[in-house]
Amino acid sequence: MRLFVSEGSPGSLPVLAAAGRAQGRAELRISTVGPEERVVPFLTQPKVPVLQLDSGNYLFSTSAICRYFFLLSGWEQDDLTNQWLEWEVTELQPALSAALYYLVVQGKKGEDVLGPVRGALIHIDNSLSRRSCPFLAGSADYLFSPMPTEELGALHSWFQTLSSQEPCQRAAETVLKQQGVLALRPYLQKQLQPSFLEGKAVSNEPEEEELATLSEEEIAVAVTAWEKGLGSLPPLRPKQTPVLPVAGERNVLITSALPYVNNVPHLGNIIGCVLSADVFARYSRLRQWNTLYLCGTDEYGTATETKAMEEGLTPQEICDKYHVIHADIYRWFNISFDIFGRTTTPQQTEITQDIFQRLWNRGFVLQDTVEQLRCESCARFLADRFVEGVCPFCGYEEARGDQCDKCGKLINAIELKKPQCKLCRSCPVVKSSRHLFLDLPKLEDRLEEWLGKTLPGSDWTSNARFIIRSWLRDGLKPRCITRDLKWGTPVPLEGFEDKVFYVWFDATFGYLSITANYTDQWERWWKNPEQVNLYQFMAKDNVPFHGLVFPCSALGAEDNYTLVSHLIATGTFEDLTGIVMGNEG
Ligand code: 2FM
Ligand code: ZN
Repeated sequence: MRLFVSEGSPGSLPVLAAAGRAQGRAELRISTVGPEERVVPFLTQPKVPVLQLDSGNYLFSTSAICRYFFLLSGWEQDDLTNQWLEWEVTELQPALSAALYYLVVQGKKGEDVLGPVRGALIHIDNSLSRRSCPFLAGSADYLFSPMPTEELGALHSWFQTLSSQEPCQRAAETVLKQQGVLALRPYLQKQLQPSFLEGKAVSNEPEEEELATLSEEEIAVAVTAWEKGLGSLPPLRPKQTPVLPVAGERNVLITSALPYVNNVPHLGNIIGCVLSADVFARYSRLRQWNTLYLCGTDEYGTATETKAMEEGLTPQEICDKYHVIHADIYRWFNISFDIFGRTTTPQQTEITQDIFQRLWNRGFVLQDTVEQLRCESCARFLADRFVEGVCPFCGYEEARGDQCDKCGKLINAIELKKPQCKLCRSCPVVKSSRHLFLDLPKLEDRLEEWLGKTLPGSDWTSNARFIIRSWLRDGLKPRCITRDLKWGTPVPLEGFEDKVFYVWFDATFGYLSITANYTDQWERWWKNPEQVNLYQFMAKDNVPFHGLVFPCSALGAEDNYTLVSHLIATGTFEDLTGIVMGNEG
């Protein structure tokens, strides 16, 4: 086993301390590398700490490495330890990174530094004060230390106890090099500046607000249900058809990202966002909230066209075939959708064209000419996934139209050397074509204002906040919303008759059109932000479209749309476990 750490990287502290505790249980080599060193060959960004297992697999999540050492040293994980580890990753770490950033990079002091992390520190302090031993869980816990402060007495003595332990001392020597937190400066300087998008640190116990809204009777009912099973609960509210928002009630609208129809769904689809949304929908119904949970197939886009070519069917035939397969599988899993619809419907065209028209009329759509590859023998412009060629950066022969699998660099398809049409293998030519762009820079202020109101106190997951923050940090750019394809929603503008909307411009409108297929009163859900609480579940790749592009389109269309209140993004298997299974992906 080999552990790679780096001076000045905060994550190296807890893993070294944990490694110290597991000493003698396995052969371990510790290597100190530079922060820019690419230890894991297939990750595009440098990442330290990393644990390379004897099997050749890598662990590169700090908490996964700590857990690994924890198990190796023979300790049993109990629920309390797991709860603290989870809390450390989701609450303490983000708050602590923000506080460290203010302290070390910006030289701030006092409340400016303590502010972001205060809630978390008080939570630890309270939990320690309630325990008779000096640790948070068990008798030896290695959660890494937050900054001690005099006012938090129990926390302070916990910190002293930890600091006197040899593995912790050695970890601090290796990583901090006698410079204290200042050693973290180069690392922190490379991080994004924490901003209003950071959530508040909360505890791993029910929020006080939440407790305050629960009466004694409700708590008693919950306890009985826990002991006697669901049968003891009051019956669910009878389902109205259609389910519509009710004034004065809590109206919960839940969506799972719409799967493409180019495959038979597998466990990854279910785990990605269907299962979590389903659990939440069931919870919401048990709480007697007025709940509508919807999903459906995302049927436009090149994914469908490619599959159609592969199977010798038309795109519509592919959609018809796979929509049924998807619906059946989710039914088999007993997913509690109220609606499972699809996007190739007249309602989708009508809603998309309406939103587009409103954006166009309000000056939020730009036109520009784009150079693209066109295959004359197939008589079509080639989407990135239909082109292959030699990578302009590293010379790899089978680079894709958007990225090189060998060097990982992003490629503009027209820059590929010796490009080939993947369908007929002939050489495409560069042709220019007029396209429409959503003017995101012009909508950025509205978006920021909306995020400023929506995010504080909401249930956006921290990865979703992080992704949105990085997009905003880099500044929004106009986004092309049209494609030279036949399969898609037609663009209702003169001169654009032979183009369709880019699938990601209208995919998110699919939630609206799917509801419109269910009830002609769909606007009571989707143009009713005062009464409806929208929860959207998705894989993390989908965050920019749900958290930026869709809200910008809806804000620019100025039609009082219901926007996402809580955006819940699932990480990849690697993000969740820190275990890398190879780069097949
Ligand atoms: O990534 C995907 O699988 C997309 N089909 C998700 C679309 S979600 C929504 F916008 F339709
Ligand atoms: Zn061709």
